[in-house]
This record gives sequence, structure tokens and C-alpha cells, in this order.
Amino acid sequence: MTGDVAERAAAGFIELYGVEPAGRWAAPGRVNLIGEHTDYNDGFVLPFALPLRTVVAADRQDDESWTVWSELSGETITFCADDVAEPGRVSGWGAYVAGVVWALRDAGHPVPGARLAIASDVPLGSGLSSSAALEAAVLAALLDLGGLELPAERQPRLAQRAENVYVGAPTGIMDQSAVIRCRAGHALFLDCRDESVEHIPFDLDAAGLAVLVIDSRAPHRHADGEYADRRRSCETAAKALGVPALRDVTVDQLDAALARLDDEVTRRRVRHVVTEDQRVLDTVALLRAGRVRDIGPLLTASHVSMRDDFEITVPEIDTAVEAALAAGALGARMTGGGFGGCVLALVDANSAEAVATAVRTAYAERDFTAPNTLTVLPAPGATRLN
Ligand code: GLA
Repeated sequence: MTGDVAERAAAGFIELYGVEPAGRWAAPGRVNLIGEHTDYNDGFVLPFALPLRTVVAADRQDDESWTVWSELSGETITFCADDVAEPGRVSGWGAYVAGVVWALRDAGHPVPGARLAIASDVPLGSGLSSSAALEAAVLAALLDLGGLELPAERQPRLAQRAENVYVGAPTGIMDQSAVIRCRAGHALFLDCRDESVEHIPFDLDAAGLAVLVIDSRAPHRHADGEYADRRRSCETAAKALGVPALRDVTVDQLDAALARLDDEVTRRRVRHVVTEDQRVLDTVALLRAGRVRDIGPLLTASHVSMRDDFEITVPEIDTAVEAALAAGALGARMTGGGFGGCVLALVDANSAEAVATAVRTAYAERDFTAPNTLTVLPAPGATRLN
């Protein structure tokens, strides 16, 4: 697949349907700077949007049917009102599209029929939220085509319902919030309890820094089951502690809380979430003070916590973090749900290539599949392109 992603979506549309699309809508992938597995604990996260995007070219149809082509699979699928009457009738990648139609209709919006063509630069299965990007781009398209009103701050919940209920993945609110609400040059400080946000300036260029994203290429090892298992542990622990969610335990209260839990594994899970929330607050405080370089140790501490307490890293990921730090990264951590996916490293801009090379060398020594690397700047959230 070559060429600009927006052009590919439009070209696909024209080839398939023989007319120009009415418009194109884009939504980005995301990385999370810090705050992992805190979203479903009502806590804090700090993601930013990537310059990699999913683009939907679309037009409106008079009947209640949706035809969707995706460049990735090369397939075209069609579904009708019956298929979105209840969750689960469309499967595979089409479920993310049908899920958005279902969630909009379920919330009482009269969704127009539509023809869509989808192209994407967000790699699948790399933990960069390709699914949220797809949901958000489809949602933006359908809202515009139908002249439907849904304020940006309410869109993430709707896209999340598509994923939780229609697709059946029990994810939190971070990814959809990031891909819809992020702004260029900023990280999104999101309170996952009330969904209030603050756009925190994250000016890497001014600080002479770069964020290197390393796709570990690690095969996902039971990621779905492990994710659901971590979520359950946290909810059970909150109940045992008598709080609505683990967000309600502060670091000052942590020791007393841990003493009330009799299972060592649960204690470790709780310690990760409580300390991770605090690390997000500390990172935000440093960024507000313009001290971008100083967030490095917090990123690395987050990784150690995910590795030792939450136990969601894998050898490829730990290797990438260790090699990046040994090559001079200011901080490095896995980003996303875990069990594979990506690592991000905060590096001096002029050492990004050396750090990437060090990671590749460490991988080669262990016979891991070579990683993909990319330096990124915080990009805007979902938008209409023309
Ligand atoms: C995945 C989920 C998010 C969040 C992260 C972990 O990306 O989709 O909701 O829980 O994992 O922070």
C-alpha cells in the first residue's frame, strides 16, 4: 500500500463505488505517555495522538444498509439494520464499524445508511489503538453524514460501547478519548472518573527531545484473557477495600490498604495501580513546569511496576526497554495493554537513531523478530479532512 492514507481511502472509494466520496474523516492511533491500566480503575492517564491515521471516505445512502471496504483485508462487507439490532451479528474487522452504527442507534440517533472505504497507517495488533482509530473515524463520518449532534466529550463513551458491548472487548475509556480528544503538541490528561480533560503542552522539539516508539513485534500472548483477568483483580480488590474503585486509594493510604489484602498477587496489582496514578500526577506536574526531561525516571518506574507488580510485560518488551535505557534514553516503558505491543522511549533528539540501533542489536542477539521504530510528535485527534 503506497501513497497518502487519505488518498488511498478516496481512491478505494472511487474504484469501488464509481463516484467521489462526500467526504473523508480521519482518526489517529495513540500512545500512552504514562498511566497504564488505570483507566478502568477510574484513575488518570496521559496519552497523545500519533501522526499515523485511519481514514474513512464515505457517502450517504437512502436505505438502511452499510457497505464497507477495507484496504487491509481487501474485502467489502455489507450489513443491514437487522445486523445492528443487537450486538454480535457482524464479526471480524467489520464488527468495529457495525458496533459504531449499533451504539449510535442504541443511543437514539437516526444513523444514515452509508458506503465507506477505509485505509489506515495504524498498524494492527501493535497496541497503538487501531481499533479506536477505526471506531472514531467511522463515528465522525456517520455523525457528519447524518447531521447528528454529539459533542466531542460524549463521543468516546459511545465508541467504547461499540467495543465493549458489540465487539465484546472489556477495555477502558482511554483509547477512544485519546483518538477523539487529543490536540497537536499536547498530551491529554484525562480523569477517567468524570472524563474531565486538560491539554498538557508536550513540546518535544523545544526541549531537544524525541519520543521513539518501538513496535516490539512480540506475538500477543493471551492478551485478551490476561487483560480481563487484571481488570477483575482490580475490581475485586476495590470491593475488598470498600472503595468504589482503586483510584480512591492514595499512595499515603497504600500500606494500610495492602495490609488488609491477604493475597500477594492482588497486593501487587493494587500497588501498581495506586502508584501508577501518582506517577501520572507527578508527570503532569513536571510537564506543567516545563521540565520535560525530568519525566524520564517516572516512565521507567512505570515500566518496572508493570513488569514486577502488574506482570504484563514480555521478554521482547523488557529487552527493548533495557537496551533503550542502556543506550542513553532518559526513560522507557511499555505503552498500552501489555503482553506485546509497543515501547516508548524519551530520548535526546540527536540520539534517537543510536537508541533504535541499540534496541535492534539487543533483539538480534536474542533472535527476536526485528522491531519497527518510529519517532513521533503529538498529533491532533479525529477530524474531517475536506
Ligand atoms: C488497552 C485498553 C485501554 C487501557 C490500556 C491499558 O489499551 O484499551 O482501555 O486499559 O489497555 O492502560
